[in-house]
Order: sequence, then structure tokens, then C-alpha cells
Amino acid sequence: MALRTLESLGELAGKRVIVRCDLNVPLKDGVITDDGRVRASLGTLRTLIGAGARVVVISHLGRPDGEPKPEYSLAPVALRLGELLGTPVAFAPSTTGTETASAVEALADGEILVLENLRYQAAETSKSDEERQAFARELAAFGDVFVSDGFGVVHRKQASVYDLPQLLPSAAGSLIETELGVLDRLTETPERPYTVVLGGSKVSDKLGVIEHLLPRVDNLLIGGGMLFTFLAAQGHAVGKSLLEADQLDRVRGYIAEAESKGIRLVLPTDVVVASGFAADADHETVAADAIDSTTFGDAGIGLDIGPDTAAAFADIVASSKTVFWNGPMGVFEFPAFAAGTRTVAEALTHVDGLGVVGGGDSASAVRALGFTDDQFGHISTGGGASLEFLEGKKLPGLEVLGW
Ligand code: 3PG
Repeated sequence: MALRTLESLGELAGKRVIVRCDLNVPLKDGVITDDGRVRASLGTLRTLIGAGARVVVISHLGRPDGEPKPEYSLAPVALRLGELLGTPVAFAPSTTGTETASAVEALADGEILVLENLRYQAAETSKSDEERQAFARELAAFGDVFVSDGFGVVHRKQASVYDLPQLLPSAAGSLIETELGVLDRLTETPERPYTVVLGGSKVSDKLGVIEHLLPRVDNLLIGGGMLFTFLAAQGHAVGKSLLEADQLDRVRGYIAEAESKGIRLVLPTDVVVASGFAADADHETVAADAIDSTTFGDAGIGLDIGPDTAAAFADIVASSKTVFWNGPMGVFEFPAFAAGTRTVAEALTHVDGLGVVGGGDSASAVRALGFTDDQFGHISTGGGASLEFLEGKKLPGLEVLGW
């Protein structure tokens, strides 16, 4: 079956259209620090407003664990959406109840309303089908049709992502279409050399994707906090750096598989080691197999890839035809440990082919480091979602749209 798209919903003027967006943006003291996901949602919303639909936007933000917590309110996001759309955006402080129903009924053609965080309701993420379906029915009462456009959340079997689309005529929005178009190019016939760069803190989050991609890529580059589990698997001391001891055997298996298949699994040759986890921590650059040789001894903590590694990664990235990058190379939030991430990002802007930044954190990283979206082939709004897609998994939020 093919993905159902907006056209399949027919004439939308005067119809109440519920749109599931992923407006899960990073906030600091109530201020949005990266509005990339809001911007990415504009295309579908503009189309719907332009078509004269009455648009009801729903989304989650963070993980408030089923309770209303003000720091996870979507109110500042609704405000930003209004600024970007250049049109007033109404806000309903709940996803249920008569007040919300009245706010939906008050919508005129071409107007837009954002409901409060879906995850204030425990039923949104419940493991119980009945609980999720009951909540989905409440949401469905606010719409005539449903548009799913929150690509970042399609890997979640949640009420608004999986159950709601089954209750109304439903289709994917243009963001989901775009994201799938790009990810398809990575999975079907990527132009070679094909390089994947993985970083971020947890190996365990990336195991599935490493396993799936190892036989498919030409180069797999490992940076970020998870590199230390790879170094430890090779028998090197890693001091107080991040280490997932329970993954060592599996990681040894990947190293052996890469060797036997002739895949370049490229691990750092040097790292930046700090006296502690702080922006102003003392730090030294050492060979990756000598982390315990710094003046911090075995108290040293690795916070970035070293300059030789960054240069080697940059060479491989810039000379590849297809690159997918997920996960920062170091603690880029601290300027002293941002060089590895910056160098890889810079190289990605020079790819003569398709260079994809995959994921919420990596997307925020490149923007925080001053890069602009148009410097990359594509910046995905999905972190976990794009990784699971590349793992070859079935994604619940796509299956219900006919994918
Ligand atoms: C994300 O940030 O990857 C998506 O918004 C999904 O959020 P979640 O991991 O809390 O489900």
C-alpha cells in the first residue's frame, strides 16, 4: 500500500482538520532555543489554512509523565507558530473538556488553534489499548479528518499517532512525505561511497541501527559518548568517560564483523579528555589508547573527539556521496568541547551528493553552532524515528497511514 497523502482527503474548506505535529522543541526557562520543528511544520499548516480548513494542532512536548507541568506547556510554541505563520494562533489550555470543545467550535474557516500538551494525559502514552483508544475517541470528536505530520514521533504507538488516525479519514502531511522521500534515498539505492556517522551518548540506543547498517555502508564513523564503549571493547582504559559495560560483547562483535566484511568502522585515534564534566574543566588531547596518561589519571573524562580524528572524519564525510549523521561528536554545548561536532558539521556542508543531519539533538547542535538549514541536503526532524526507519523497523504511525 502507498502512503495516503493530503489530496486523498478531498475538499477541506470548512472542515475541522486535526493535525498531529511534532512541536517538541527544546526550551530553556520558557524560551525556545531551537524552533526547527515549528518551522518544519509550517508547510502543511499553510496548505490547510490556505484551503480554508479549520485547523486543530495537537502535539506533545517533552515527557511530563501524564500530568500538567507548566514547564512542558505548548503555550510558548503556539505563540512562535503564530509569529512564523504571520497569523493569530489560538491556544486551548487542555486537550479535553468543554472549554476545548468550545475553542474548536469557535474556529472559522482558515483559522488555527493549538491544544495543550497531549502528554498531560497519561492515556496518550498508555500501554493499554483501551486507555489509548478512549483518549483517541475524545480527540477525534474535535475533527472531521486527521492529518499526521509529526514525523519525529511516528515510531511511537501512542493515542494521537496510532489510534486517532484509525478513527477518522486520515493522511500524511507534507513533512512526513518529505522525510520519507529522503530516508528512502538512504535505504533503497544510496549513491556510494555511503558514510554513516554516529555519535551521542548511548550505544544501547544505536545498537539496532549499527547492526542493520554495518553490511550496507562503506564507512561507519563512531564519535560522541558512545565511542568510549568501543575503545573499552578494544581493551583501552577510558577513565571516567561514559561506558556501557553491558554492551562490550556486542560491540566487540561489531568490530569483528566490520573487519571480516571489509567495512571501514572508523574509531577515533585521539580524544579530548577533561578533569570533569564542566564547561571550564581543564582538558588535554591524547591518543585514544592513552586516556589514562593525562594529568587527571584515571579520573579523566572524555568530552570530544580529538583534532586528528575530526580531520579524518571530515575527509571521509566530504568525499562521500551519501552521508547520514546522527548524534553530536562531543559535548558541543560547552564551547571547549564543540570542535569535533563543528568539524563534522562543516564537512557535511561540503558533501557533493546527499548529506543528512538526522535527529532532534544533531539538528539543534548544527543550529547552535551557527550553521543554517540550507547548508545541508536535509535536516530531519526525527531522531529516534529516523534511526528506527534506517533500522528497517515498521513504524506504527506510518503503518496506519498505509505505508
Ligand atoms: C523526539 O524528540 O525524538 C520526538 O519528539 C519523540 O519524543 P519522545 O522520544 O519523547 O517520544
